[in-house]
Amino acid sequence: MGFDEMDVDTIWMDGEFVDWDDAQIHVLTHGLHYGTGIFEGVRCYDTEEGPAIFRWDEHLDRFYNSGKPYNLDIPFEKEELTAATKELIRRQDLPSCYIRPVAYYGYDMLGLNPESCPEQVAIAVWPWGAYLGEDALEKGVEVTVSSWRKYSSSQIPTNAKTAGPYVNSVLASLEAEREGYVEALLLNEQGNVAEGPGENLFLVRDGEIYTPGLAEGILGGITRDTVITLARELGYTVHDDVSISRGELNTADELFFSGTAAEVTPIRKVDNVVVGEGTRGPVTTEIQQAFFDLVERRTDDHPEWFEFVGME
Ligand SMILES: Cc1ncc(COP(=O)(O)O)c(C=O)c1O
Repeated sequence: MGFDEMDVDTIWMDGEFVDWDDAQIHVLTHGLHYGTGIFEGVRCYDTEEGPAIFRWDEHLDRFYNSGKPYNLDIPFEKEELTAATKELIRRQDLPSCYIRPVAYYGYDMLGLNPESCPEQVAIAVWPWGAYLGEDALEKGVEVTVSSWRKYSSSQIPTNAKTAGPYVNSVLASLEAEREGYVEALLLNEQGNVAEGPGENLFLVRDGEIYTPGLAEGILGGITRDTVITLARELGYTVHDDVSISRGELNTADELFFSGTAAEVTPIRKVDNVVVGEGTRGPVTTEIQQAFFDLVERRTDDHPEWFEFVGME
């Protein structure tokens, strides 16, 4: 579903609430040409206490940190971005939504050094259901190991959500779709498993859980951190600092993705090799259940992870 079919009408741009159709920028914007922007993806869940933004503080921290390698100082305080986001959700009366903050170098000159360009910020919110399809959460997805490698952090910081480098994810997604898969899995420069185009990867073997460490060139996902925390609370041993070789994908008992958009999505086949029983496995099921119970506030756990919007 495209934006035009959605019931959303307002975007926050550089300190002002503007009509959706007026949220426009110049074609010579630095960020458009060189990808000199950073962004976040956050979910706000429908709970009994009204809309609640999940792990907003951590997303905001990552947003500000993502700008550091590019000298991009977000010219608003965290409190201002929080107030703007809540107001956007209230004004458009959204019980749940996806939140997209973006900051980028604007219009001045197109030399590569962006520092003379204004630092601009916008926030949009819109309804967004299951990212990998309606069936994906229950039945799992089929993925392919991409011929594109994840870039290494010696080339581009992998712990920042920088706009330009997402072409790496775009290439992997396009290739996967062309070949009939729902999603891709990228290896890093060393040939070990890194992550999906917009998801982290978890592997289950003999009742223990493994996920590539940060040094494998992955984004330190906030959902990854949530899954690690929940799994440990459920009593699982989680190895979160390991290398995973490609071959281990074929012998895993279970595999699943984590991500703000993908939430906790099982993987049922990798390049047509069936993972485990080829269905959502028991460990994935337990973690997925714990995840949705948490984010939809069917438990009182981790109240510190929720920012309530407060509908009037
Ligand atoms: C490349 C990549 N890896 C992992 C993730 C998952 O991160 P998070 O759980 O913070 O959404 C994302 C999504 O932001 C991503 O784009």
